[in-house]
Amino acid sequence: MGEDYITSVLKETRVFYPLKNFSANSLIKNMEEYKALYKYSIENPESFWAEKASELEWFKKWDTVLRNDQGFFKWFEGGYLNVCHNCLDKNIRKNKDKLALIWEPESGKSKTYTYEQLLKEVCKFANVLKNKGIKKGDVVQIYLPMIPELPISMLACARIGAIHSVVFAGFSSDALKDRIQDSGAKLLVTADGSFRNKKIFPLKDNADKAIKECPAIKSVIIIKRAKNKVIIEKGRDYWYSDLIKESAISNFCQPESMHAEDSLFILYTSGTTGKPKGVLHTQAGYLLFAQQTFKYIFDIKNEDIFFCTADIGWITGHSYIVYGPFSNGATVLMYEGSPTFPKPDRFWKIIDKYKATVFYTAPTAIRALAKEGNSWPNKCRLSSLRLLGTVGEPINPEAWLWYYEIIGKKRCPIVDTWWQTETGGILISPLPGATPLKPGSATIPFFGIEAEVLKDDGSKAQANEGGYLVIKKPWPGMLRTIWNNPEKYKHTYFEKFGMYLTGDSAKVDEDNYFWIMGRTDDVIKVAGHRIGSAEVESSLVSHKAVAEAAIVPYPHDIKGQAIYAFVVLKNGNKKSDSLKEELKQHVSRQVGPIAKPDKIQFADDLPKTRSGKIMRRILRAIAEGTKEYGNITTLAEPNVVEVLEKGKIN
Ligand code: WT7
Repeated sequence: MGEDYITSVLKETRVFYPLKNFSANSLIKNMEEYKALYKYSIENPESFWAEKASELEWFKKWDTVLRNDQGFFKWFEGGYLNVCHNCLDKNIRKNKDKLALIWEPESGKSKTYTYEQLLKEVCKFANVLKNKGIKKGDVVQIYLPMIPELPISMLACARIGAIHSVVFAGFSSDALKDRIQDSGAKLLVTADGSFRNKKIFPLKDNADKAIKECPAIKSVIIIKRAKNKVIIEKGRDYWYSDLIKESAISNFCQPESMHAEDSLFILYTSGTTGKPKGVLHTQAGYLLFAQQTFKYIFDIKNEDIFFCTADIGWITGHSYIVYGPFSNGATVLMYEGSPTFPKPDRFWKIIDKYKATVFYTAPTAIRALAKEGNSWPNKCRLSSLRLLGTVGEPINPEAWLWYYEIIGKKRCPIVDTWWQTETGGILISPLPGATPLKPGSATIPFFGIEAEVLKDDGSKAQANEGGYLVIKKPWPGMLRTIWNNPEKYKHTYFEKFGMYLTGDSAKVDEDNYFWIMGRTDDVIKVAGHRIGSAEVESSLVSHKAVAEAAIVPYPHDIKGQAIYAFVVLKNGNKKSDSLKEELKQHVSRQVGPIAKPDKIQFADDLPKTRSGKIMRRILRAIAEGTKEYGNITTLAEPNVVEVLEKGKIN
């Protein structure tokens, strides 16, 4: 977001205190309670987490709470449980008729599942997977839109001990192929198509293309969603509805007894270099962390309707649509579509329709909806809401205030939750009944989380001084490794300081509040989505006309950041608008529409050091329009800066 943003958040001095009646009914009622429990959790992490772990149901209790196995952390070793059992069976004993899931599709023809109904569906599909030869430890790839069969598939995998790996349905066939090849999945669950803005997206066709290069895939299970015509390959492709109906499929499936450190899921995310990395989460620690963070941060009540707008293809959906809510026996609301279709009141209407009480969304959506004006939310009641949340990128104070006043009617606290795919759950966030809020700050660390900001030399930064955000001690929800690449895990996260390196820069103010400033690596957050520069650049370079490419972020009103690409063409190619459009489509096809550059500038040369390294900070200063290039004396060709400035795309 650049320096402008940083200074603007630091000037932010408004403080919003929790309302008395909210605090009175919450789990943690004031800062004294928070501080006491926080202190205990940091001084006695193993006792703290062991006490919390007794809220889960174990088939066998653990032997050791935490062990450092040469830099790989193990939680609750010797313990056995089943994640699906903890999400469904456990809650059914309390209240089998409680609503677990409400699904709101674009058509408005919603569907609901009680805990008992959900268990039945999950068991049937678990049995189907078993019949297709899926065993404990096998990987199942899931490429589905936001339909109930997505959480059902995940829970079915968890029930039989298969490892799920969900791929966001907006990703291209190439992206799907890369992920399947890396995960080694044997089975793919997909749909004939998905809807977005009434258009049909051909999921199965994409899957067919991907699988051509994935020989490990032995079966494909297809959910009928869009009545889209698809090619069925005999002996490999099956309709979900046919398999579920088979008379031999029982309504019950015994949950597999899983070791605490067995793998639960792989989720791919972008890093600094190369292709996306498979972040691995395991059973007990992940579940415990999702369960506890959901319970305290959303201060969840039995009668809550929790509406999270994230796609389950990202970690937010894994932890706060599926595992966090279900392990707490909560009612979760998932929707299909987009915030502005058919009208910019989609969210507000859904909130009123179901009397949603907690609403969790991304700053990019808030900015987009604020831009549409207040009349859309003002036409709705929104009176059921009691708590709001945000995630995915820093929220600018203006958007925060709009959310607070226009959506929350100054009644609802906002939890600005900072976390990552790797962290499994929220690490820095207000507790809504206790923490005074400062717009734009994710505030304070959750129980058991020791966060700090360090300078390059490893010393602690002063108050309000920017630096590297690190987490000093392991926590149960942390990633365990990168799938197929343990060396990369150690290198990426632990090499620099010997403690978990988040990849974000941050400041801590005089009240010990954390202000997240952005990424320190070559990851760009476009509309909250994590895009690796390297992936987009290699996609551009793979086009026949392109010799060289470099991408940088620039500030964008709605997306927060957008992508600016500098492209050097191979000799003999004409710089034209149609080629720009072609390059955008090329990236969109290869990586996915979310990675498409917003601006492309053709250049004859890029700013490089004498050793040939591209100096991105210069490109960034050009794209952001700050002209603050820093030191340019090391450039091989100093006048390149002026030439690029002249050709800048506004
Ligand atoms: C990156 C992680 C965690 C769920 C969604 C994103 C940024 C996330 C915040 C926040 C400022 C935030 C960070 C982080 N981020 N939440 N509340 N304030 N920045 O997961 O795709 O793994 O991205 O998102 O830069 O490193 P992800």
